[in-house]
Amino acid sequence: MTPNSDRQPRLLATSDLHVGHRGNRPMLEGLTSDNEQDWLIVAGDVAEKLDDIEWALGLLAQRFAQVIWVPGNHELWTSRSDPEPARGVARYTQLIELCRRLGVATPEDEYLLWPGPDGPVLVAALFLLYDYTFRAPGTHTKEESLAYARETGVVCSDEFLLDSDPFPTRDDWCRARVAETQRRLEACDPEVPMVLVSHWPLSREPTRVLRYPEFAQWCGTELTADWHTRFNVTASVYGHLHIPRTTYEDGVRFEEVSLGYPREWQARSRNPVVPRVIL
Ligand SMILES: [Fe+2]
Ligand SMILES: [Fe+2]
Repeated sequence: MTPNSDRQPRLLATSDLHVGHRGNRPMLEGLTSDNEQDWLIVAGDVAEKLDDIEWALGLLAQRFAQVIWVPGNHELWTSRSDPEPARGVARYTQLIELCRRLGVATPEDEYLLWPGPDGPVLVAALFLLYDYTFRAPGTHTKEESLAYARETGVVCSDEFLLDSDPFPTRDDWCRARVAETQRRLEACDPEVPMVLVSHWPLSREPTRVLRYPEFAQWCGTELTADWHTRFNVTASVYGHLHIPRTTYEDGVRFEEVSLGYPREWQARSRNPVVPRVIL
């Protein structure tokens, strides 16, 4: 790392580092910057175990001026191998406390202002979850959509590992998060452009290329379908799909920034480009 780089600091992003997989740990160790003023967004799915998450975020926090993390579904799994396995909101609180110790920003902090050369940009870290409204083909209710998935055998592990306690269901938790987040975003200055960061895509469009369309029900909520136009959004950063690419919706840039599992990124390239430049 050359800390005295002359170039402009950058806002970078990555996600789905999945460092619980041995093959991904060297990728994390190699994730550095040549300018210590760069910021790094980590859009969820770092790992499942608290000590893996702490190792990864701790390393990144030493290398970047600011790390901004949002939870993915994998961090929220109740990990039996953690010293104090916690469920649902209590698990989320454990993760927030871990990030605070490391100086990593989370959805529970004030949104940070990126001091870009073209003016400041608000980086809004969002925790939104999903509510089964990206339904499986030909289905009209959550129950039908889940039944379709059970029939095809494409069922997300969240069904067994991601507890919503004290919310009755994950969709209840999602609706509460969306309502609270919308209130916060509406209170922001509409003149200041934003980068919205969420593990799950804000709209259904990115899920249209999933190999198994029934998996989309674990990928977001229709409640945020218009957020990229309702708010002053420069870019929407997400992961979760393990399909890294840049797309545009209504002229707004959507960046899927995932690394993914070793077998996935090795099939794409020996040296996947990590992280992505957002600004
Ligand atoms: Fe992932
Ligand atoms: Fe995920």
